[in-house]
Parts: sequence; C-alpha cells; structure tokens
Amino acid sequence: MVRSPIDWRNTWQARRQVRIRPMQVTFDPHFGEHGLSDSFAVACCDDFGYGRRALDVLGDQVTPETVTMEIGPGSGALTFPLARRVARVVAIERSLPTVAFLMEKLAEAGLTNVEVRQEDWSELDITTLQDQFDLAICSHFLWQVGDLETHLHKMERASRRLCAVIQPAGRTPLVVETWTAVTGRPYDGRFEPDADLFPYLILREWGRRVHVRTFDYTVERDAAQLERYVTGFIAKHELMTVALRDRIAAHVAPYMRDGRHVDHGQAVVLWWPVPDVSSISRALTDVAESCSAE
Ligand SMILES: C[S@@+](CC[C@H](N)C(=O)[O-])C[C@H]1O[C@@H](n2cnc3c(N)ncnc32)[C@H](O)[C@@H]1O
Repeated sequence: MVRSPIDWRNTWQARRQVRIRPMQVTFDPHFGEHGLSDSFAVACCDDFGYGRRALDVLGDQVTPETVTMEIGPGSGALTFPLARRVARVVAIERSLPTVAFLMEKLAEAGLTNVEVRQEDWSELDITTLQDQFDLAICSHFLWQVGDLETHLHKMERASRRLCAVIQPAGRTPLVVETWTAVTGRPYDGRFEPDADLFPYLILREWGRRVHVRTFDYTVERDAAQLERYVTGFIAKHELMTVALRDRIAAHVAPYMRDGRHVDHGQAVVLWWPVPDVSSISRALTDVAESCSAE
C-alpha cells in the first residue's frame, strides 16, 4: 500500500479541536438539551427528508431484507427512514438521554424494528458484532471520531456487504454571516461540517472503490429553533451571555418568512463495498507497520 503524502492525521486532529468544543452558555445550563428536540422537530417537519434523500442515493442497495447497523443515530434523522425501508436496525448511541428520547419517538411512530443500544462505539468490541449486518452506516458522525481508521475498520468488520458515510457539506450562510456580525471577526471555516474528504482519502489508500454522490435537502426552523441553532455554534467559541444571544436573535429575525426560516443544504454520501476479510487484515497490517516505522 502506498501511503498518502498528505498529512491528514494532524489536520484531522487540529480541525476536530475547533469543531468539538463544549458550549458556554451563562444563562441556561440546560441549553444543550434543546438540541435533541429541536433536531427531531426539524427532521419531522418534512418527514425526515434528509435521511430519505440519503437512502435514495443508495437506491436498491437498501432493501426490505437489509439488516443495518447505524452509529450515532442522535434524534433519528436517518434512523426513521432506515427503519421504514430495511428489515432491522441496530443503532449504537452513547448518550443515555438520546437513547431514551429516540426509543420514545420510535415507539410513538410504531417502528418496532429498531434496537437502540446505549454503547460507546469507540469502546465497543466489534468482534461481538462481526459480519452481522448487510449495511454499516453513520450520518453526521465523523467529527465525533478521534481515530478515523479504527472507525472505518470497525464499520467494515460489522458489515458483510456495504458501508456508507453521510456528512453534511457546507454550513448555512446565515450562521457564517451572524458570526461575523456579532463578533466582528472574519469567518475562518470553524463551523464547517465537511469531513468526508478524510474517510475518502483513507479508503482510497486502502484500495477501496468509493462511490461519492451529493444530495440537496431543505430544513425549516421556527424563530426559537433558528435562534438556538445559530447561538449553539457561536457558544462554542464565545461566552454566550444574554446580551450576545439577543444580538444573535436580532440579526437572524429578518430572515424569517411567515414564521419559518427555510435553509437549503447539501450533503455527501460515500459508500463502498466491503472487501473480503483477508484483504482488510492486509490493509491493517500495512497501516500498523507504517505507523510503527514513523
Ligand atoms: C451530530 S449527532 C448526529 C445525529 C444523526 N445521526 C444525524 O444525522 O443528525 C452525533 C450523535 O452521535 C452520538 N455519539 C457521539 N459519539 C459517540 C460514540 N462514541 N458512540 C456512540 N454514539 C456517539 C452523539 O451522542 C449524537 O447523538
């Protein structure tokens, strides 16, 4: 295997440090908890259009017989459409409140073919799930991952057929504009969700034939959801006071139309067939050998 001359490992860690930061909100210690119900409400609004479109890209590779593992389901943007299309979903979610929330919403929707397991994917012994699935998939999960190679390797171990990674591409201009308006500083890309280039690079290094497609989706938010959405990003980098929140609210208010803000996004789907186990172990041996040689 030829190792890429691109130093993506350090770049990944540096970008992750900017992306994965706790929010600092002075006026509401429970601010982050709105994220779950807000993201569910937004996804519900167009009957999980983001997840439906992502699965449309995979087409007839996802069938009523497909047994699926989803990593990091969150409030279910992908889980609901998956559950409607496939035989069974095992969803691995670390956060206990999120597991409880998702199980309640799935039960309300009458979807009984999803097993939500409260487990930390990075700690999970993948041999317990080896080759049990036709599809291993994650959506909007990549920035949660410290070690991308191990993540992709575990996905391949879990699936006997297909793996897929879905990741939003580009941040809504309103978040970017608001950042500049309220901080007075230029935008340096700190909120960009784009992470798909990293797994693409790794998988190509491993010799995988990776398919790539983008799709468009639309989300709608009411005024309170929009304000919390934009505030949440900025609160990762600025101490969020009532005064700053009010400036954000004033900045985003003119963008509302008839009580809604409509946002058009794009996302990337990467998918690749899982090779047989012997070639995976060869690739891993290569990685281990070249890491120890560094
Ligand atoms: C950004 S949300 C994505 C939710 C959803 N998949 C979507 O497309 O909108 C990431 C989710 O992954 C979960 N998560 C983060 N790290 C995890 C880990 N190590 N194991 C399992 N779940 C994890 C978080 O709790 C959160 O629910």
